Amino acid sequence: MSQFTPRVLSGMQPTGNLHLGNYLGAMLNWIRMQETHETLYCVVDLHAITQGVTVWGGPTVLRKAILDVTAAYIACGLDPKKSIIFNQSQVAEHAELAWVFNCVARLGWLDRMTQFKEKAGKDKERASVGLYDYPVLMAADILIYKATHVPVGEDQKQHLELTRDIAQKFNLDFAESIAAQGHGEAFFPITDPVIQGPATRVMSLRDGTKKMSKSDPSDLSRINLTDSADDIARKIRKAKTDADGIPSAAGGLKGRPEAENLVGIYAALAGQGVEQVLAEYGGGQFSAFKNALAELAVLKLAPIAGEMNRLLADPGYVEAVLKDGSDRARAIAQPVMREVRKIMGFVVS
Ligand code: TRP
Repeated sequence: MSQFTPRVLSGMQPTGNLHLGNYLGAMLNWIRMQETHETLYCVVDLHAITQGVTVWGGPTVLRKAILDVTAAYIACGLDPKKSIIFNQSQVAEHAELAWVFNCVARLGWLDRMTQFKEKAGKDKERASVGLYDYPVLMAADILIYKATHVPVGEDQKQHLELTRDIAQKFNLDFAESIAAQGHGEAFFPITDPVIQGPATRVMSLRDGTKKMSKSDPSDLSRINLTDSADDIARKIRKAKTDADGIPSAAGGLKGRPEAENLVGIYAALAGQGVEQVLAEYGGGQFSAFKNALAELAVLKLAPIAGEMNRLLADPGYVEAVLKDGSDRARAIAQPVMREVRKIMGFVVS
């Protein structure tokens, strides 16, 4: 697969506020990869509408959410000069390739997707067709840029597998034409997920067995990137723990999801290993550790909220970033889509 130049793409939905889980689980990798790779970071606004308008909230809400998430990207450290930062709906080729992939992917593959089952709930008949098709659009997001690496949270693994299956089937179904058009053995890369870092799964502060989530009804369960310093400190002090203290080695965190989560969050924010954190705090009480964690979290996260507010005071700047990014993304996507049409036999003039 060495014929493909390394290229990174990832995206987040513009729904609700981003939280610590998004930041530690994905964004830190995104920021790191800007230094070593060509990077595209997308605000996946077409995905945001897949649960129907009563869920996503309508035009005013959507528009604000797109600008908010873009501001969060920049405030966290994504640099519009180093990365292409854009919103999906401004590059029509995502939707166009998704249609082609709809005709490559099989119903049986989509039937296995656990995220659809979770989101559709019991009443599958009333779920939108778009919600079911969500992973196919995601495959198009990635492959329209021939992205080789996709940094995501653990929960997206299955969608990445589907992306690989679609690329493989397209490459096989059209192998002859792909070769005849001078693309060698494969037109699309078989994309690698990048799931790494100390805290790929950040759990709820109220229940260490549940993921930190923007849809949890309790705001105490998560740290939002827009939280004030006081809120951050308060939520950490109130975080659920068990009756024991901090263990001196990682083995002592087994079966203690809340303790494991808080130590993992500390390690990720400090850029340290879990063992290193336990070497410092092991043997101590949770109250003291929580104070240290609150201080560290405020130090790392409060400036992000400040920068977001500064950016949102100037929506013109944020919109200009999206326009420039979308122009640059389209310049990559259009020729790829044209090749896809030629490979498949559509008449291209
Ligand atoms: N499904 C991803 C999520 O919920 C968001 C997403 C859409 C995405 N398209 C993508 C992530 C392409 C990576 C690459 O987090």
